[in-house]
Amino acid sequence: MTYAHILVETEPPIGIIRLNRPKALNALNFELIRETVEALEAFDKDERIKATVLTGGDDAFSAGADIKELAEATPVTLIEENKFALWDRLKKIAKPIIGAVSGYIYGGGCELAMNCDIIIASETARFAQPEINIGIMPGAGGTQRLTRTIGKYRAMEMVLTGQPMTAREMEKHGLVNRIVPVEAYLDEARKLAMQIAQKAPIATRLAKEAVLKALDTPLEEGLAFERKNFYLLFSTEDMKEGMKAFTEKRPPNFKGR
Ligand code: CAA
Repeated sequence: MTYAHILVETEPPIGIIRLNRPKALNALNFELIRETVEALEAFDKDERIKATVLTGGDDAFSAGADIKELAEATPVTLIEENKFALWDRLKKIAKPIIGAVSGYIYGGGCELAMNCDIIIASETARFAQPEINIGIMPGAGGTQRLTRTIGKYRAMEMVLTGQPMTAREMEKHGLVNRIVPVEAYLDEARKLAMQIAQKAPIATRLAKEAVLKALDTPLEEGLAFERKNFYLLFSTEDMKEGMKAFTEKRPPNFKGR
C-alpha cells in the first residue's frame, strides 16, 4: 500500500508511520489523517505487528490541522462531510502506539500526539494549542485530553493564550514520558515498541483498553472493567505459557492465543 502523505514501514514486530508533508510542517489535511488512520487499522489487523511508532519530522511532528483546507469550511460542510469522524477511529486502535515527537507539536498535531499511548519527545519539542490565534478553538480533543492530562489550569492557559510549552514543561506536567536528544528520540521510541512487542499480545491489548477506560469512567465501573479483562486473560494460552515459563525459569514464548 502506498500513501501520498505518510511513509509506512513494516518492521515486524513493529510498524512505523511517519507523517510526511515536510514543506507544510506536516499540517494535517484530511487525506493525511485518513491515511494515518488506515495505516494504523492495517497494523491492527496484521498479526506480525505488535506495536506502532508514530512520528513526523525533527522540525515538526505536525503544526496542526491544515489551515488552508479548513479556511473555506462552514458548519454545514463540516457536518455534512463529517471528516472529523476520522479522529474517532484513532481512539479505537487496539495495539499500542508510541509517539516519537519533535519540533512543532501544535494544534491538531498535539491532539494527534495525545492519541498515542506513550510519548517520547526530543529536546526540541514544543507543544501548543494555538487555535485561539486564528479565531477558533481545539476541535480534535484538545480541550478534553489536555485537561485530563495536565489539569484545568495549565490546559486553560495553553488553550486561551496559544503559547507553546517546552518538552521539559510537558514532561513535568505528565504529557511526555521522557525527553531524549533529537538524534535519539526515534530510536528510543523504537526500543520501547520492541520491548512492548515481546509481551503477550492479548494481554497488551486488554491492558491498553483498561488504562484508556480510566479516563472516562467512574472508579467503580473502571475497576469492574479491569477485573473482567483480568479474568478473561486466564482463558489464553499465553497466560499458561507465561506462568509456566516463570516457574521453569525461562523466557516465555507467547503466541497471541
Ligand atoms: N496549516 C497549513 N499550512 C501550514 C500550517 C498549518 N497548520 N502550519 C504551517 N504551514 C505551512 C506554512 O503556510 C508555510 O507554507 P508556505 O511555505 O507555503 O508559506 C510552511 O508550512 C512553513 O510554515 P511557516 O513559514 O509559518 O514556518 P515558521 O517556522 O515561521 O512557523 C509555526 C512555524 C509557528 C508552526 C507556524 O507555521 C504556525 O503558526 N502554524 C500554524 C499553527 C496553528 O495554528 N495550528 C493549529 C491549526 S488549527 C487546528 O489544529 C484545529 C484542530 O484542533 C483540529
